Amino acid sequence: METSRRDLLGLAIGGLGALGVVGVLYPIVKTLAPSAASLAGALVEVDISSIPEGQIRTVSWKGKPVFIVRLPQGFQWSGKPKEEKNSKLLQGQGIFALVAVCTHLGCVPLWKPQGEAEFNYPVFHCPCHGGFYSPWGDVIAGPPPRSLHLPPQAIKDGKLVIGEAGFIKELT
Ligand code: FES
Repeated sequence: METSRRDLLGLAIGGLGALGVVGVLYPIVKTLAPSAASLAGALVEVDISSIPEGQIRTVSWKGKPVFIVRLPQGFQWSGKPKEEKNSKLLQGQGIFALVAVCTHLGCVPLWKPQGEAEFNYPVFHCPCHGGFYSPWGDVIAGPPPRSLHLPPQAIKDGKLVIGEAGFIKELT
């Protein structure tokens, strides 16, 4: 009789412990699982006709700011980036998306249109530590080590679509 009471007590304590573990783990697992909102944010469509030439728009993609850049027709650029990465990948493309996160320490650069820029051409300027990027997001000056990241993107039916690489490949 004594043993079965002890067993019962042990079972009750074990059950409470298991409930406690579930209670602690559930909110953590729930936080890590992608919400419907974040899944929805994995695909962004931007109507490019609403962006004036020489201007940018900032949108949110997977929780990150992304610049949609629209260069003027026949835009010529005379700057010298440290490395021509994005400009080569985006050759001839006047409308494109760049992840708006500085590759130095993660600040959001500012768009400086021609006339407002310290240079003779439009640039992205990261005020945190004086980084400068070309309109294509290649580093011109300052501490950023790499070009701004290019998200998977495609132009379809007058819209710039930003999304997962696999989806964009299907689209093009
Ligand atoms: S975070 Fe952009 S230059 Fe340092």
